[in-house]
Amino acid sequence: MTMKISGYSNIIAVIVFSLFFLSCKENDTIIIDVAHEGAEISPSLYGVFFEEITHSGDGGLYPEMVLNRGFEDGTPPSGTRIVDGYAVAEAKPCYSNDSINHFKIKWDENLYMNGWTLECVDGTTPEYAIVSDEPLHPATPHALSIATGKSKGLVNLINSGYWGMAVSEGKTYKLNVYLKLKDGYKGAFQAALIDKDGKELWTAGILADEEGWQKYATQFTSFVTANDLRLKLTFANQGTVLVDQVSLFPVETFHERPNGLREDVATLIADLKPGFIRWPGGCIVEGLTFENRIKWKETIGDPLTRPGEYNLWGYRSTMGFGYHEFLQFCEDTGAEGMFVCNAGMSCLFRNGDYCDANQLNQLITEALDAIEYALGDTTTTWGRKRMENGHPEKFPLKYIEIGNENIGMRYAENYNRFYQAIHEKYPEVKIICALMFSKYLKYAEKVDIIDPHYYETAGWFYNNADVYDKLPADYPYQIYVGEYAAIGGANLNSSLAEAAFLTGVERNADKVKMVSYAPLIENAAHGRDHLIVLKNDSSFGRTNYHVLKMFSNNRPDVNLHTELIPIQTPEIYQTAGFVGIGTDNSCASFQSLKVIHDGKVVYETDFSDWKERWEPVSGEWTVENGTLKQKNKQGSAMAILKNFSVEDCTIELKARRDAGVQGFRVMFGGKDQQNYLMADLGSHTNESVLFREITDHSNTSLFDYRVEYPILINHWYDVKINIEKNHWTCFMDAEPVYEYTHKVAPKHYVVSGYDKQKGEVVIKVVNGEDTSWNTSFDLKNASKTTGEGKTITLSYPDKSAENSFEQPDKIVPKETVFKTGTSFGYSFEPHSLTILRIPCEKN
Ligand code: AHR
Repeated sequence: MTMKISGYSNIIAVIVFSLFFLSCKENDTIIIDVAHEGAEISPSLYGVFFEEITHSGDGGLYPEMVLNRGFEDGTPPSGTRIVDGYAVAEAKPCYSNDSINHFKIKWDENLYMNGWTLECVDGTTPEYAIVSDEPLHPATPHALSIATGKSKGLVNLINSGYWGMAVSEGKTYKLNVYLKLKDGYKGAFQAALIDKDGKELWTAGILADEEGWQKYATQFTSFVTANDLRLKLTFANQGTVLVDQVSLFPVETFHERPNGLREDVATLIADLKPGFIRWPGGCIVEGLTFENRIKWKETIGDPLTRPGEYNLWGYRSTMGFGYHEFLQFCEDTGAEGMFVCNAGMSCLFRNGDYCDANQLNQLITEALDAIEYALGDTTTTWGRKRMENGHPEKFPLKYIEIGNENIGMRYAENYNRFYQAIHEKYPEVKIICALMFSKYLKYAEKVDIIDPHYYETAGWFYNNADVYDKLPADYPYQIYVGEYAAIGGANLNSSLAEAAFLTGVERNADKVKMVSYAPLIENAAHGRDHLIVLKNDSSFGRTNYHVLKMFSNNRPDVNLHTELIPIQTPEIYQTAGFVGIGTDNSCASFQSLKVIHDGKVVYETDFSDWKERWEPVSGEWTVENGTLKQKNKQGSAMAILKNFSVEDCTIELKARRDAGVQGFRVMFGGKDQQNYLMADLGSHTNESVLFREITDHSNTSLFDYRVEYPILINHWYDVKINIEKNHWTCFMDAEPVYEYTHKVAPKHYVVSGYDKQKGEVVIKVVNGEDTSWNTSFDLKNASKTTGEGKTITLSYPDKSAENSFEQPDKIVPKETVFKTGTSFGYSFEPHSLTILRIPCEKN
């Protein structure tokens, strides 16, 4: 008899080991050879990637409570100017293809007062202006000028905070306000925290009578816990007051650092035991325009001297969590630092403009200076700066990444120059190339590590858990999976899909050296999809946080050879269904479509039958002289051949990309408009050819790793898609460019390794199915098991469930012990990630 482990109780269950499973024919067998070691697993395999996005920093990890503390939120993004309510970038060629992107975003100049309101006690609005002629510091050029003398009575200046301010009983907070008093203003002003009804919970009178810009400071220990507070500054006297850099900041921070991090959030990250931390991005490294990129030198020193920048995720970053704080956070968490620098170009989906050769030299110098700031001794310029900023010791910077998600020849050329300069001066620093599996890698002279990113559906992650098993053994580059996330549903199922993918990452630790999820943190005001969700007074880890923590905290030193022998071989998938054509963000033309089944032409058209036989599902389709044209450049378009279903077949047609950013598509095996397969020709902004599976309207790519095949504009391609059961081949101009075998197997995944220090076999198992998974384990060449193992299980009956502020611990790992041996049976719960730790030695 075997007892099923209850994952839903806190009771430590003792599981009765039984040989039942060994003799049971219905179990899949898992054979682990303890003497057969595979790749060593890098101690830095599991890390984190921080980017300022969705208020992960400001309003998140960085605990400044005043929103828009320097009255700078109205400053347009660098490299743009305001035209008719838009911040318009200079029309410059995009680095990837020399197109002019004409990039602009809506702009609201009232943002200078973002977060702030002003009122006189009688309800009227006082006279005020945003001024820039008497700056407190060049980095904070704007200030609020209040003409109290021309206003009626007391004037209240109120800040909303980031969706309210939160204080906790017994915790201390410090308030700093910079004021310049003019026109005879003299006397005290009052600071108060008020609740939503305006009731004052804390007040302080602060004497202000100095000339010129002065800092006024106080601090208080809260006697209440509340999360809906606002800061109110009250000016009672006559004259003019200039206000700037108002800050309310907790004294207690992570590791008690000044200008430090929010304790609860930083602790959640530290508990992941990250091997490395990547900073600062992400797309914000690239910027909306080249000028808008992150400039690390503007992110160190007194926060008041950091100008901040509007970030391409839609708000202005204070950069309070800057380069120094990032390095300090690495030190405080025991992680290695990974700094990402701009590669000389802005984001190609935004302006995409790039720098000239001179500026590139400066950028390379900036990158070298960043390394010197972390690693240089205190006699160097930037090492001394680090000391002046309170940290004479070196920081644990280990990696530098040249750019983020860049593509193309210009990138490869710039990368070569960065690589040479950095490697020559700092051979100990590991350099990461931002190219993914790209054809441009061949133009990069020396590549050590590449950085593929995956934002795909849960189905993709389940399907591609073996993506790195398929890489050739002699694949020349190490892999850093810098960003991955199962999108389209933040729940246990998507988290288990990521877990399935991580089993493949860990098994291929000889190829994959590091992995980090993205994005890391989300303020709940934006959504609840990321790894850590927070609001001003609380935070929780989603189920994928717990998945990552389980993998990271149970990282073995070395892989063990593991074989899964399923009792049933999965049936071979038979492709069957409708045929169609389409586009994505592009216009295309089609001619002479033919479907051949069993050696016979079963359908052939010059599109003269368009009206009777085809259903245009989306897009703008017209037939002109035997050519079918799709003319809408926006979004995806699809047309389906009506009342037609076919199994194995060959689809032949001529297709031409006329305009737009991608190529064209051929649909097959369609069940209905939400569920079908397709060859996506010119996917990923016209970089690749691949097959996709669309289930319930969401795109699941089935590619192993990308095949680069851009679709030329105005070229008529002979397209042929050959479908034999589950094996599909795509030919372009008679050349086979992509092949895929679609295997439909149960969502069962296993990887194992050995923890040398603890002397334990560590087995990670994902059961993504709705039913239990009964298995029989055989630990070959194992001896001296103590007879008792440990299990850590993350599971829940409803796979669409997720943690929340109301129930942050609804789905968290549960630990049990179980009786074990060198052979044992185990039933894995439906929708579960389970880690078995079995003390044993090898024979
Ligand atoms: O994680 C969000 C963004 O996704 C990152 O900034 C970028 O690298 C990717 O496209």
